[in-house]
Amino acid sequence: MTAQFPVARPRRLRRTPAMRRMVAGTRLHPAELVLPLFVKEGIDRPSPIASMPGVFQHTRDSLRKAVHEAAEAGVGGLILFGIPAVKDARGSAADDPDGIVQKAVADLVSEVGDTMVVMTDTCLDEFTDHGHCGILTPDGEVDNDATLERYAAAAVAQARAGSQFIAPSGMMDGQVAAIRTALDAEGFQQVPIMAYSVKYASAFYGPFRDAAECAPQFGDRSAYQQDAAGPVGEALREVRLDLAEGADAVMVKPALAYLDILRQVRDTVDVPVAAYQVSGEYAMVEAAAANGWIDRDRVIMESLTAIRRAGADTILTYWATEVARKLR
Ligand code: PBG
Repeated sequence: MTAQFPVARPRRLRRTPAMRRMVAGTRLHPAELVLPLFVKEGIDRPSPIASMPGVFQHTRDSLRKAVHEAAEAGVGGLILFGIPAVKDARGSAADDPDGIVQKAVADLVSEVGDTMVVMTDTCLDEFTDHGHCGILTPDGEVDNDATLERYAAAAVAQARAGSQFIAPSGMMDGQVAAIRTALDAEGFQQVPIMAYSVKYASAFYGPFRDAAECAPQFGDRSAYQQDAAGPVGEALREVRLDLAEGADAVMVKPALAYLDILRQVRDTVDVPVAAYQVSGEYAMVEAAAANGWIDRDRVIMESLTAIRRAGADTILTYWATEVARKLR
C-alpha cells in the first residue's frame, strides 16, 4: 500500500527567507518604538542600574546623548522618568518648574522634539519619600482625590516644559479627566494623553524600582494597580473609562505576560494601543543571555514581534535604540 502524502503543505511557504518575508503578517518598525529613560538630579556621571545591564540613570548631558542616538536610529519616541535630589511626602519635585523632569524635557524638546515624540510619565512615586504613587491618608492609604490634584499639577508643569504626550501611570480613578481638565484650563488643549489604562500590580516592575528609586517604603501597590487574577472585564472597563475621560491612546502593562489582555483591548477600542515591555521583562532576557542560556538577539525580536502581533501599535522598550538600528 502506498503512503498517503499530504496535499496541503504549509511548509511550502516557509522554505526560503524571501518567501517567509513576503508572507510575514507582522512587522516591526523603528517609528513605533518608544525608549524609556531615567534622569537623575545631582549626579555628575551616568550611573549604571545593576538589575538592568545597559540601562543608566542619566545626567542631563548623558541623557541628551542617549536621545540623540535614539533619534539617529529612527526611534519614534521617548518617555522620561526623573529622580529628584529631594523627595517629600507630597512629591513636590513633580510639579516644580525647576524639577529635574521639567528641565530635562526642555533639553530634549530642543534636541529632538521635531523628530521624536517627547513623552513624560506622570506619577508621584519617583518623587515621594514613601514611594507610593500618591498622597497618603493618616492611615497610610493612597488618597485618590487628593492625588488627582497633584497629578494635574505635575501634568501641567510637564506640558509647560514642553512635554508632547502626558502619560499618567498612577492608576487613580479619574486621573485622565483631572489631567485633561487642568491641561485645557492652562491652554494645553493640543497635548495628548496616553493613559496607562491597564496596569497590573506586577512583580515584573522590580528592576524599575531600582532604576527610579521608588520602591514603596511599606506595603505594595495592590490597592491601586490591578490584580493579575482579576476579572478580564476590569481591564476593558478601565480602558472605557479612560476613553470617556478623554484619553487619546491607551496602554497595557506589562506586555509579555498580558498579551491576551492586549489583544482584547486592541479588539475593543479605536484609538492607538501601546504596550510596555517592562523592566523585569528586560532583566530576565539580559540575565539569561549573560549566562549563555538563550540567544539574546532572537529572544528580543521574538518577544517584540509577539507584542506587535497581539495588537500593539506602539511598544515601549528599553531595547528601542538597539532594535531600531537592527531594523534599519
Ligand atoms: C510608575 C511606573 C512604574 C513603571 C512605569 N511607571 C512602576 C510601578 O508602577 O511600580 C514600571 C516600568 C518598568 O518596570 O519598566 N511611575
